[in-house]
Amino acid sequence: MTRTQERFARDWAALAGIGRDEASGGYRRYAWTGADLQLRAWFADQARQRGMTCEQDRNGNLWAWWGDRGPGAVVTGSHLDSVPDGGAYDGPLGVLSGFLAIDELRERGAWPARPVAVACFADEEGARFGVACVGSRLLTGVLDPDAARGLRDGDGVTLAEAMRAAGANPAAMSADEPALDRIGAFVELHIEQGRALDAPVGIATGIWPHGRWRLRLRGEANHAGTTWLADRRDPMLPYATTVLAAREAAGRAGALATFGKIAVVPNGTNAVPSAVDGWLDVRAPDEATLTAVVAEITAAASASAAAHQVDVEVSGESYTPGVSFDHALSDRVAAAAGGLPALPTGAGHDAGILSARVPTAMLFVRNPTGVSHSPAEFAEAADCVTGIQALGAVLEELACR
Ligand code: GLV
Ligand code: MN
Ligand code: MN
Repeated sequence: MTRTQERFARDWAALAGIGRDEASGGYRRYAWTGADLQLRAWFADQARQRGMTCEQDRNGNLWAWWGDRGPGAVVTGSHLDSVPDGGAYDGPLGVLSGFLAIDELRERGAWPARPVAVACFADEEGARFGVACVGSRLLTGVLDPDAARGLRDGDGVTLAEAMRAAGANPAAMSADEPALDRIGAFVELHIEQGRALDAPVGIATGIWPHGRWRLRLRGEANHAGTTWLADRRDPMLPYATTVLAAREAAGRAGALATFGKIAVVPNGTNAVPSAVDGWLDVRAPDEATLTAVVAEITAAASASAAAHQVDVEVSGESYTPGVSFDHALSDRVAAAAGGLPALPTGAGHDAGILSARVPTAMLFVRNPTGVSHSPAEFAEAADCVTGIQALGAVLEELACR
């Protein structure tokens, strides 16, 4: 085993138990929960072990600095939070790879001419409060801090309350121009989340535009055994119609549409529901297609709701425009890594948010099954190590020359 293989095996195992649900085998690493605090402590410890200075910025993002914090910094990293029952690699692989790539550089005596940082962005998945990439959106000023503070989780707890309970200060959240000004380049390493990469490591060309919408359907609760079908105002019916319409609209347009989360009130087997909320995720190769698909789904929801005397409201919860990563930086990254296959992705990343403000590129590590956002997500250790080595070569090229 090489030193990097050993270190990867050791540090990966140390992360494995945090926030893992024994029954599903998946991760429940939600923003500002106990699991998140353990992950933040793990990050601070990784920095401490390497003599790196660790800081939490005003938006809850973590930064570990190799050398003094300063302008022209080469930053790598990703996120540590997860979707419900998420896999081990989505996010953490990029954070740990940053630390292990720095170990590689130090081992071969490479010394940075510019500051280098490993970053961990807060609440990338938005699993708890609904909006994805909260930390990087706040940092770059595309999420209003008041709106962020008021976001509520499924139990009605606001983000501000959750941060305070975790010892953070929500009042400080705001766009962070000094932090952005320090970044000369950002390179995020991430597991690939489909089956599009047939080599150990690849480079991302861009990210499809995508967003989240909430469908609120309001009808009337009633008895399942005594309410004639004609007398019902059942919101489950327009919900079902809308799910099918989403599938059809996306299929016709070459887009993707998913209803992965639903809340039913009162959620009783023998009651016609009074309310159904469904969360819709739509992604498309371009923004015109995305807009058209969402409009078609919204129209289907309205028509079906009217037919069943149900009230409907569709509201946007988060939106990310399409991203093309920085060509010059991506060419340099690919060359430093010895030449890489290039591919786009439909998955969202903090790199996509940062790319609006700083030169950004992404490395992908092969996903042999293509499964992600699932406990079954997997990458071969050998591919992860190849990714770490590629990231090491990239950091050396960008920071040490
Ligand atoms: C994040 O992983 C997303 O693509 O939603
Ligand atoms: Mn994810
Ligand atoms: Mn991710």
